[in-house]
Amino acid sequence: MLAKCNDDSNHTESKTWDVTSLLVAPSILSADFAFLDRDIKSVDQAGGDFIHVDVMDGHFVPNLTIGAPVVKSLRKCSNKVFDVHLMIANPEKYICDFLEAGSDIITVHWEAVLDTTKFAYLHALVKEKNKKFGLSIRPKTNIEYIKPYLHLVDLVLVMTVEPGFGGQKFMPEQIEKIQFLDQYRKTNKAEFLISVDGGINADTAKLCVDAGANVLVAGNYIFSQDHKTAIQKLKKLKK
Ligand code: DX5
Ligand code: ZN
Repeated sequence: MLAKCNDDSNHTESKTWDVTSLLVAPSILSADFAFLDRDIKSVDQAGGDFIHVDVMDGHFVPNLTIGAPVVKSLRKCSNKVFDVHLMIANPEKYICDFLEAGSDIITVHWEAVLDTTKFAYLHALVKEKNKKFGLSIRPKTNIEYIKPYLHLVDLVLVMTVEPGFGGQKFMPEQIEKIQFLDQYRKTNKAEFLISVDGGINADTAKLCVDAGANVLVAGNYIFSQDHKTAIQKLKKLKK
C-alpha cells in the first residue's frame, strides 16, 4: 500500500517545539459552535498555543462532531497549530482529508490502529506531508502497548477521561502513564510532547505538569471563564 495522499498541495513543515515548554491547547468542543470563528480567534489572542479540534464519529466514541470540510473552513480563523484529535474508527479512510484540511498535528487512537502495519502506514502519510504525528490512548489501555512506537511519534495524548464528551471528571489514576512517558523520554532522549486531555483545570493540570506533561488540552475550564485568565493560570504551572 503506497503511503501517500492524492492531493499535491504544498504543505509547509509544522513548527518545531521544545519538550521543556508548557503549551495550552484550548479544545473548541466547549466553544459555541454558532460562533466558532469568534471563539477560535479569542483563544488564539488569549495565548492558546494549539487549537485542539475533537473529531468524533459516533462509533469509536458515542458522540458526533465535525469532519474535514469544517476543519478546512476553520483553518481561516487562526494561524496557530491545529491539533486534530481523531476519535474515529478506521482513521486510514479519512487521514488524508484531515491533512488536506490543514491539520498540523494529527493524533490517532492506538485502539483504532492496533497493529504495526497500520501504524506505519498512518505515520508515513503524516510524515510525507511534514506534519506531526500523535498517538492517543484511552484510560483503560495499557501504556505498554504503545511503547514500541514511542521513538516515532511527535506527541502522546494521554486521555484523562473516557473520550467522547467535554466537562467530565479527571481520572487521577492516569497520572502514572504521564510519569512512565516522562521517564521514557528522559531515558531515551526522545522528543515527543506529552499531552493530557480531559477534566483539566488549574488543580488537575498541576498534577499532570508535575508528572511531566507539557501540553494541557482544556475545554470546559477555558471556555467557562475569561479565556486569557484561564490560559494564564494554566501557563503559570510551568516548573
Ligand atoms: C473529550 C475530548 C476533549 C474534551 C475535553 O473526548 O477529547 O478534548 O474537549 O474537554 P474538558 O476539558 O471539558 O474535559
Ligand atoms: Zn481531545
